[in-house]
Amino acid sequence: MKNKGTILTGDRPTGSLHLGHYAGSLRMRVDMQDDHNTFVMIADTQALTDNANNPKKVRDNVLEVMLDYLAVGIDPEKSTIVLQSQLPELPELTMYYLNLVTVARLQRNPTVKEEIRQKGFEKSLPAGFFMYPVSQAADITAFKANLVPVGEDQFPMIEQTREIVEKFNRVYKKDVLVLPEAVVTKVTRLPGVDGKAKMSKSLGNAIYLKDNLKEVEKKVMQMYTDPGHVHKDDPGKVEGNTVFDYLDAFSTEGGALDKKEVEKLKEYYRKGGLGDVELKKRLASVLNEFLSPIRDRREEYAKDPAEVMRILKNGTEKGRETTSRTLKEVKEAMMLNY
Ligand code: TRP
Repeated sequence: MKNKGTILTGDRPTGSLHLGHYAGSLRMRVDMQDDHNTFVMIADTQALTDNANNPKKVRDNVLEVMLDYLAVGIDPEKSTIVLQSQLPELPELTMYYLNLVTVARLQRNPTVKEEIRQKGFEKSLPAGFFMYPVSQAADITAFKANLVPVGEDQFPMIEQTREIVEKFNRVYKKDVLVLPEAVVTKVTRLPGVDGKAKMSKSLGNAIYLKDNLKEVEKKVMQMYTDPGHVHKDDPGKVEGNTVFDYLDAFSTEGGALDKKEVEKLKEYYRKGGLGDVELKKRLASVLNEFLSPIRDRREEYAKDPAEVMRILKNGTEKGRETTSRTLKEVKEAMMLNY
């Protein structure tokens, strides 16, 4: 039964999805799609806010992200997958919401601040990029989502959306928009293979869902461990050791990699005697075992891109039933129902 609420999540199609996406949000979407009304958005309009000169990259990655979604088990029978640019209600809602947000408030959004720095936008900030949190509020509210399963970096977006919802409902009409909440996974952030806080395409430290066996092995072998653990018999540190972060993220109670096994490996490593190479081999095999069925499904879908894009088109049409209903209510509340 889909009675546990409505979910909206999304990804910018700027590259293939990696294990960080999986641990931070994809896994949770797959788990939740059985008993939630689930919408998943490929946010191509948002991707263009910092890729305006690169439409081909965005266009090509719509298919890549679709393949990743289908490969990890986002099931189009259970989740409605929509393409942001093909929902004209979203920019219309954005326009109305912009009046409910101050520039000062947008300037304070920590995620946007951080991204401005990363992208070198300090001197020439595209206005569209600056206000993307408002457009994201349109995404979330258009579907009347009450739950948004995302990584930690997206919390400020949910906060901003909540403020817009509260203001809208106060100024125009009570209960038109739904107040969303972030849903957090325990492992929200998988570090990059270099031990940096976040896996990302630009840092070149990510393991992709579509990486083959050899690529995964190679990346795991390069993984950052404990620099003080020089000889196999030296006592090693588990905290801040990327290999253990991954082992923790991919172990389950009684699964192929049992939590108890990871605890034993930690104990052994701390004491000394467990070499990095041996430990990494175990992780590479765990990851490859996990990725193998995902890779197979991805290859299967990749044989028929037209069919994959058809799935997206159907989802978008279905999603539009909801977004157009919401827009109608919004316009009524704003006395724009001519
Ligand atoms: N900002 C998100 C990201 O960069 C993508 C996104 C767009 C999104 N619209 C959304 C996430 C709505 C959750 C809900 O990953």
